Amino acid sequence: MAPRGWLVWAVLVTWARAFCPPGCSCDDDGPSARCVGAGVNVVPILFNPGLRRLNLAHNAISSVAQTLVFFDQLRELDLSHNLISSLGAHNFEMQRHLQELRLAHNNVSVLLPGAFRGLTSLALLDLGYNGLSDLPPAVLGDTPRLAVLLLVHNKLHALVRHAFHGCSALEVLDLCDNYFRHTPTAALEGLEALRVLQLCRNRLTHLEGGAFPTPALAALALQSNSIDHIDAAAFHRLTALQKLNLNDNLLREVPEAALDPLSALESLHFGRNPIASLGALAFRSLLSLDFLEVSRCPRLSRLHPEALSRCRKLRSLTLSHNPSLRRLPSGLLARLPGLRSLDLRANGLQTMGAADVAWRSLASLDLRDNPLVCNCSVRWLADLLSAANTSISAPDLQCGAPPKLRGLYLSR
Ligand SMILES: *[C@@H]1O[C@H](CO)[C@@H](O)[C@H](O)[C@H]1NC(C)=O
Ligand SMILES: *[C@@H]1O[C@H](CO)[C@@H](O)[C@H](O)[C@H]1NC(C)=O
Ligand SMILES: *[C@@H]1O[C@H](CO)[C@@H](O)[C@H](O)[C@H]1NC(C)=O
Repeated sequence: MAPRGWLVWAVLVTWARAFCPPGCSCDDDGPSARCVGAGVNVVPILFNPGLRRLNLAHNAISSVAQTLVFFDQLRELDLSHNLISSLGAHNFEMQRHLQELRLAHNNVSVLLPGAFRGLTSLALLDLGYNGLSDLPPAVLGDTPRLAVLLLVHNKLHALVRHAFHGCSALEVLDLCDNYFRHTPTAALEGLEALRVLQLCRNRLTHLEGGAFPTPALAALALQSNSIDHIDAAAFHRLTALQKLNLNDNLLREVPEAALDPLSALESLHFGRNPIASLGALAFRSLLSLDFLEVSRCPRLSRLHPEALSRCRKLRSLTLSHNPSLRRLPSGLLARLPGLRSLDLRANGLQTMGAADVAWRSLASLDLRDNPLVCNCSVRWLADLLSAANTSISAPDLQCGAPPKLRGLYLSR
């Protein structure tokens, strides 16, 4: 090779390398760079300064102070799984185009005032799996476009009134796996656009009147707390709520009055609660309900025939793993004209009446693991499930009694 060609080649290689540090892979489209698990402990500076996406996950970076100033075109920055323990005021000042900032799985326990200064375009901030015990007032006031804030698995137990001041665009707030004993009602004040609120796996014991001042809320996750009381006015502004999860709490009865405002509710999980019965009109106001789950309630033994009578739109019912449930009152399911999926697995049901369900609409049925007595009373069920023209999909069903028929397949 001629010396001159050599030189050009060497310069080009150096140039390309200069924009992609060892351990990273870079792509000029975007442009973007990925240095995942590259063993770096500072943000490398040898990238194309026009970089839009930078993934530095799974490294040993402990600070981002002063290091991001060279990249003012970033749109997405992933710093998750590093060793960052605090965020100071000047870390992101040049990042006015940044839309997604991922800081999950670090050790952030301190947010200094102004920690997010400069992030005027930020739409998503993931601070999950850190050590935050506090959100200083207005620390998020520098992120007016923030729509998704993930604070799952921190040490938060309370939030001050102005914790989200300035985040009027917030739509999704995930506070699961924290230490809340009370809903952070004052902090939620003013979040008029909030659609999804997750408070699962906290330490809530009761929900007070007006606990959720968030009129646009469509989904509320409250599973795996210790809620034993819900005030009748707890959900009173949630007229747009579509999904509510109350699984795994300490509720002894369905909070009928509290559910009254939820006329738009489409999905309700109410399993793993110590309820003994579902009363008449337990879900009396849930006229839009499409999906209901009441599973794994060991004490549940009594269902009122009218318990579901207002839920005329119900299409999917999961009433399973309730071993004390020995019988379904006739009429309970017969008046659900749109029921398509019925999961009755692992209850204590010994028999099933032909008139109990609107079979015509049913597309799937699970009756496995019930102590079903195979006598003339369930002959119709065998016929239904074995008919060549049946449109119901059902896993094979075995007799539980009498002893000489136990284990015998009822269908086919
Ligand atoms: C995380 O931060 C705490 C102090 O906030 C410190 O005691 C701990 O050693 C840090 N853990 C790691 C893995 O750096
Ligand atoms: C079949 O068994 C069920 C459950 O034990 C019982 O309620 C029903 O009366 C029995 N039917 C007949 C015809 O013996
Ligand atoms: C299946 O066939 C039986 C008898 O041939 C009839 O009575 C029943 O209505 C049919 N069911 C469906 C779903 O077509």
